[in-house]
Amino acid sequence: RAHQWKAPGPNDSRGPCPGLNTLANHGFLPRNGSNITIPIVLQAIDEGFNFKPIEVLRTAAKLGLLSTDSVDFFSLTDLALPGTLEHDVSLSRSDFALGDNIHFNETIFATLNNSNPGFDFYNTTSAAQVLNQRLIDDKIANPGLINTLKEFFLRSFESAFYLSVMGNVTTGVAPKKFVQVLFQEERLPLEEGWKRSEIPIDDDTLGNVVGQIEIAYSANWAPSGEVICPWIRLEP
Ligand code: HEM
Ligand code: MG
Repeated sequence: RAHQWKAPGPNDSRGPCPGLNTLANHGFLPRNGSNITIPIVLQAIDEGFNFKPIEVLRTAAKLGLLSTDSVDFFSLTDLALPGTLEHDVSLSRSDFALGDNIHFNETIFATLNNSNPGFDFYNTTSAAQVLNQRLIDDKIANPGLINTLKEFFLRSFESAFYLSVMGNVTTGVAPKKFVQVLFQEERLPLEEGWKRSEIPIDDDTLGNVVGQIEIAYSANWAPSGEVICPWIRLEP
């Protein structure tokens, strides 16, 4: 079947984004993870997740193109260029300065994996707690980490992405099992009972979920490190 899950082969390009890696593993994006254009990525996100091509995704797609010297295409690995979209204090990848900012890292993922104990779901409150805990831990592991307002917003959006795509787009409540399969296997948890949201993820739903995360995250967040001014790396 066209959208069957298939593990990537040794020559397939994969990167730091569990969402896009998953779409490639299911053939919504080219399975080789290469030659991706802005329209291709926006269509794949809509088809796979009912995620509308709203501003934040259009911007992400355009920044994806800045992550490479090509003017037309990017690959999933290109997205790992530090300082364009890729950033420190990820949920499931190490920092560039610590070695591998691309591949899934179970030790780092443990913070999210073990969050919201006693419940079988994650929500905006637990997501913000995870972001705060990752920052506390990573400041010890990587004292030079970059943590400006840009990273604050990127991280908040990414957490809203996994909650919205794997859970209820209105409430931001997502079953743990679904989120774990997305990160750990880069697979759509169809066998586990996940279904593509019938309600589109749009500015209203995502704005609500990300807004709740930002309020809770910001209560314990301040910029830190030597770099205090947000910046975007414009080319490799
Ligand atoms: C992280 C790119 C759409 C989920 C990332 C990162 C990049 C990226 C470069 C790495 C940031 C980092 O953690 O350092 C993109 C682009 C997109 C896109 C270019 C579309 C134009 C999506 C979608 C989802 C998603 C639709 C839905 C599940 C995530 C999550 C992370 C992430 C959860 C955080 C991973 C972590 O912290 O370990 N994305 N992404 N992304 N992305 Fe995407
Ligand atoms: Mg990162």
